Amino acid sequence: MGAVVRGIGIYHPETVLTNSDIEKIVETTDEWITTRTGIKQRYILPKGSKLKASDFGSYAAMAALEKAGLTPGDIDGIICANINPDKQFPATACFIQAKIGAKKAFAFDVTAACAGFVYAANMAALLIDSGQCRNILVIGSEILSPVLDWTDRNTCILFGDAAGAVVFSAGPKERGILLSQLKSDGTQSEVLYLNLSGDEGRRGMFMDGKQVFKAAVTEITDIVRSTVAKGGYAVKDLDLLVMHQANVRIIGAIADKLELPPEKVVINVDRFGNTSSASIPLALHEADGQGRLKPGMLVALAAVGGGMSWGCNLMRW
Ligand code: COA
Repeated sequence: MGAVVRGIGIYHPETVLTNSDIEKIVETTDEWITTRTGIKQRYILPKGSKLKASDFGSYAAMAALEKAGLTPGDIDGIICANINPDKQFPATACFIQAKIGAKKAFAFDVTAACAGFVYAANMAALLIDSGQCRNILVIGSEILSPVLDWTDRNTCILFGDAAGAVVFSAGPKERGILLSQLKSDGTQSEVLYLNLSGDEGRRGMFMDGKQVFKAAVTEITDIVRSTVAKGGYAVKDLDLLVMHQANVRIIGAIADKLELPPEKVVINVDRFGNTSSASIPLALHEADGQGRLKPGMLVALAAVGGGMSWGCNLMRW
């Protein structure tokens, strides 16, 4: 069976943090952030809010279920990708299962940083193709603002808080996720990581920005090329490429290398910042709302993140 997208839902907090707001927190400028990253604003959890990743995830999940015309009782499995879980264990997906009342669903988390959504979508496709499940909720839910170091201008300008959820349902074999490729390189684990223990004298996100930039461009370009080729297509056959939204310059460099025109590439990082595993469902939701996703289209999802971990799902919409 094909794992076909049946509904997409998102959630983000109301509070907007603009680049001008960040100018008051660290030594930076709107101009620097805009030219280096393309980010103009991001949504963040309001100070004092008690909401957790499972709250964001369950709001996005309920929106996706409504779009799909399904109820929580129809869901066989919940896979949640995230960086900052509610608790070390149990899985954030288990809290979401309880909050939405998806009584028959199994639930587990995937940790692959910003590549989490493509990893989780790959798992959903395998579970549906095997006949084990008919309906799976794949969720990326990220609350990053409370764990950032707001004295570090290298990292605090980049990220935002949001969640996105996609209901994948069993459909015809020739539709949905046609194939996926996943890759990791643990020797690069030092270039991007989150340390909350404080054992290195500082808590927060650590990043070698230039190295991450180079790896992102190289790895996403290569994995999109090879996944599309493995499916028997050429890159020019793609109708839409939905990449992890880290930085407009990264997205632009990849689009140039793949020779994809702007209308085939989704960009919304300018308004959301980098929302890690939530960025692909957020971008899909926006593209869908704009009528850019039509049945029969060839679509690739691609993401890279800490690990380094990266992956690509090739889909027939
Ligand atoms: N505002 C103003 N200046 C800043 C700044 C900020 N927010 N952050 C860094 N700088 C400074 C640096 O300190 C450096 O100053 P120096 O030359 O005096 O040492 C200068 O700007 C240039 O820094 P550099 O690191 O060379 O900038 P860059 O062009 O590589 O851009 C990033 C930095 C982070 C925007 C870029 O490397 C990037 O986008 N990397 C990928 C990050 C990413 O996407 N991570 C998540 C992936 S999932």
